[in-house]
Amino acid sequence: MSLRERWSRAAHSPLAQRLAPEWFKDLYRRARGRVQRAFYDPRRFWTRFGRTYMERFPPSGERSENLFAEHLSTLGAASVLDVGCGYGRYLRALRERTPSLRLAGVDISPTMIERARDFLKDGPDISLHVASATALPVADSSFDAVMTYSMMIHLRPDEVDLFLCEARRVARWGVFLESSANPAEPWRNPPYYFAHEYEDRFRRHGMTVTQRITIREDMREYLYVVRLRPGEGGLPGPGRAESAASRR
Ligand SMILES: C[S@@+](CC[C@H](N)C(=O)[O-])C[C@H]1O[C@@H](n2cnc3c(N)ncnc32)[C@H](O)[C@@H]1O
Repeated sequence: MSLRERWSRAAHSPLAQRLAPEWFKDLYRRARGRVQRAFYDPRRFWTRFGRTYMERFPPSGERSENLFAEHLSTLGAASVLDVGCGYGRYLRALRERTPSLRLAGVDISPTMIERARDFLKDGPDISLHVASATALPVADSSFDAVMTYSMMIHLRPDEVDLFLCEARRVARWGVFLESSANPAEPWRNPPYYFAHEYEDRFRRHGMTVTQRITIREDMREYLYVVRLRPGEGGLPGPGRAESAASRR
């Protein structure tokens, strides 16, 4: 057993838990959270987690899937990029509901994308890429909307800014379902969670929240419909990218 495992076992033993005063446990949690967060490597972490994520979080239910489908259709989106698409559960749900949508997914984890290729193999093609949300491998203005489900929460604060710049570069609208976890006591969050104040961020990037739907108030979990580019109205029927292509 490594020294680290021994320490972890001792620190979590019932005796240590009983004897350690609360202030010490809090201090320990904060210090551990800081260190783990500082060493969080998203590609490594999600490559490992990607091998079992689908079994742990199978396609669950209709609610969020319907929410995305409904809002993307209200915007008139004909093309959608799912950033942090995981094994593709939202892409598949969107394809089932609106087969005419042009869909693509990006994820930092090669194991997630491998699972997604398999999960999405039956049906119209969906292009999938291994890449970071901070450097999207797609052309400017190539999608009507970009969506995320529980992805921004895993970005470091500086990465959220880079992602929002990228989102604005590639799309007009954003539909983001995200949780702020525990912004008041961030050290209580798992080390791969970062507490963000999304609305401040959107504002700083000149974006407008046109709708915010509460999913879970206690987790500050909301679906944000965000106009990424200021001064632009609704989408034209067939989708901007397609309309631009047909004008050429
Ligand atoms: C909680 S999972 C959600 C997956 C998927 N949206 C779903 O609902 O099934 C978070 C996803 O974000 C991806 N991710 C984390 N950091 C990322 C980054 N910097 N760029 C792109 N994807 C990232 C992970 O690999 C993982 O697939």
